[in-house]
Amino acid sequence: MANVTVIGAQWGDEGKGKIVDWLSERADVVARFQGGHNAGHTLVVGDKVYKLSLLPSGIVRGTLSVIGNGVVLDPWHFRDEVAKLKGQGVDITPDNLQIAETCPLILPFHRDLDGLREDASGAGKIGTTRRGIGPAYEDKVGRRAIRVCDLAHLDDLGPQLDRLTAHHDALRAGFNEAPIDRAALMAELTEIADFILPFVKPVWLTLNKAKSEGKRILFEGAQGTLLDIDHGTYPFVTSSNTVAGTAASGTGLGPSGAGFVLGIVKAYTTRVGSGPFPSEQENDIGQRLGERGHEFGTVTGRKRRCGWFDAVLVRQSVAVSGVTGIALTKLDVLDGFEELQICTGYRIGDRTFDYLPAHAQDQARAEPIYERIGGWSETTAGARSWADLPAQAIKYIRRIEELIGCLVTLVSTSPERDDTILVRDPFAD
Ligand code: GDP
Ligand code: IMO
Ligand code: MG
Repeated sequence: MANVTVIGAQWGDEGKGKIVDWLSERADVVARFQGGHNAGHTLVVGDKVYKLSLLPSGIVRGTLSVIGNGVVLDPWHFRDEVAKLKGQGVDITPDNLQIAETCPLILPFHRDLDGLREDASGAGKIGTTRRGIGPAYEDKVGRRAIRVCDLAHLDDLGPQLDRLTAHHDALRAGFNEAPIDRAALMAELTEIADFILPFVKPVWLTLNKAKSEGKRILFEGAQGTLLDIDHGTYPFVTSSNTVAGTAASGTGLGPSGAGFVLGIVKAYTTRVGSGPFPSEQENDIGQRLGERGHEFGTVTGRKRRCGWFDAVLVRQSVAVSGVTGIALTKLDVLDGFEELQICTGYRIGDRTFDYLPAHAQDQARAEPIYERIGGWSETTAGARSWADLPAQAIKYIRRIEELIGCLVTLVSTSPERDDTILVRDPFAD
């Protein structure tokens, strides 16, 4: 297995960016395969902090980076993010960054619709990033989308645009919004096309060629398994499949290319946006986790909800993503807790569950069943070897492994790139 697929095993923000950056030193290609600029991946390298939303994290090291067909691409955001990273000294050219021809575009009216729907939903809102992700995926599945390859054929766009604008104008009318200004949209697309087109390539071909040459491909997931459109806490999810299987369909490499599936797992749990969260701590504990872990969203700046480690959810993620091993992150945030709790099951009414039932109402009613485990007073922050970890921290890790049925491959002990403990090399497996 020369390749590695990195996915989030909770509700996102597990530290995927840090781990992808760390692993990308040994990868030949890094590929995003789903989501869009709703993601926020933070990389800390010395005194530099890089925040990526759409670009694969491998770009920071200059590793060939590709945006697969499964990603929804906001071309204006793409241009801004490239400019921002170039401003930080990252070299980005069509030689080291490719965009799949078949990525659907996120257009300004997708963003509008995302916001209009959220505003109209009151307490039932999903708490999206308002970046147009859901509406853009809807148009993809509805076979109405404008795709990256269309930017090279704007003169032929007429009939496609008729269908797309007719659909959206009807939706907009329901919100008392003016119809789409087609002339303005065409002008915007014409203006951005020149910037995007040099990056556009048949990414499936690039990846298959890399595979046949024995190169190492690192897939970078966005969001997390519990935000998956099929396997997550529906409807409080994102609009793509976030599980590891999507690395194949979202790039065109085929299922045998996924390699070692590395699930990124935070040593506690966080969530941004609405939806069920059985082990949430709306108290001093949650406050303390949030403060110590700097739990604020990278994309929206929202405070992340915090709670104890939920072994039931991670076990479920390990199963549905076929996780081979996990990277346990933010262990240092738990330093100094006298006692920790781990959720090992749920009580719903008079029944107990060792998995999360599918129905939203059951999920909302699920009461966590906890087991307690002693904490540690020593610091793990910055630890770079197993021997640096206090015995009680090792006990905590071992218990997590037991409960989720999967072994730890990496441990992360600070935001800094090199504060990482390698237990087993995922590329070597
Ligand atoms: P992603 O979306 O999965 O890439 O995660 P984010 O970047 O949104 O959120 C993770 C945050 O935790 C970032 O600010 C990282 O710099 C930080 N981080 C990653 N690993 C660790 C760690 O082991 N310890 C601490 N304290 N912070 C970490
Ligand atoms: P990374 O890759 C955490 C959440 C939003 C909202 C729901 C739907 O940084 O882990 P969307 O805009 O996708 O339609 O929002 O999904 N969400 C994330 N939460 N991390 C992310 O990405 C997320 N991307 C989307 O907060 O609850
Ligand atoms: Mg994030």
